[in-house]
Amino acid sequence: MFEQQPPDLRQKVKELADRFLDSNDPSGWFDVLYADAAGDAARVPWARLTVHWALQNWIDRASPQGEGKSALVVGCGLGDDAEALARLGFRVTAFDIAPTAIAWCRQRFPDSAVNYTVGDIFAPDPSWVGAFDLVFESRNLQALPVSARSRAIEAIVPLVAPNGTLLVFTRYRDTDAAPDGPPWPLSETELDRFRELGLVERDRHPFPEGEGVQQFRIEYRR
Ligand SMILES: C[S@@+](CC[C@H](N)C(=O)[O-])C[C@H]1O[C@@H](n2cnc3c(N)ncnc32)[C@H](O)[C@@H]1O
Repeated sequence: MFEQQPPDLRQKVKELADRFLDSNDPSGWFDVLYADAAGDAARVPWARLTVHWALQNWIDRASPQGEGKSALVVGCGLGDDAEALARLGFRVTAFDIAPTAIAWCRQRFPDSAVNYTVGDIFAPDPSWVGAFDLVFESRNLQALPVSARSRAIEAIVPLVAPNGTLLVFTRYRDTDAAPDGPPWPLSETELDRFRELGLVERDRHPFPEGEGVQQFRIEYRR
């Protein structure tokens, strides 16, 4: 998430995350970052203002048919991936903990069919349980500390409908040793939680981004 970022921005993210982690609030710094950016996406390290290329690549390969289906975009940021899924015909709900990000999405896409809403991974709307044919989780788990990871995975998995798909984009570390972050790449042991919760891994595709950065697009099926 911080590839090719100016050092001052990387430093700011680190300081913000550390400060909020000290007060046991791992998601609290995101809205501060979005608000401080004051509409300048260059001040948001993960913002690309376009669909993530690995999502576009999945769309091109898998040709998902969205008509009559529902999709949930977890931690939607500035909304480009949600918009891409809506263009495929999915009925899309996209949520983020940061009210400033959600306001920014609504401002960027005033005529959008996407239902943008403020929401918390750790306390999803009860009506979302089992409700989504596609759940898209991109780079949010890696932005949460290891201590919060199982809880986040346990909250996301039940949102996938029977026979539904969960698509995960994440950095990966090939050790169980604690990572330095943010971002904090996921280990195989942490990914095991998806399988333990009943999902079947159908596909795993590496997408390198920057030297030494291992990333995967993983497709699970319920
Ligand atoms: C690294 S960004 C990734 C954004 C987007 N998914 C992407 O791939 O570009 C992490 C996002 O997760 C959101 N987030 C962090 N904690 C969250 C939580 N508890 N519930 C919902 N969203 C959260 C942040 O506000 C931020 O937009």
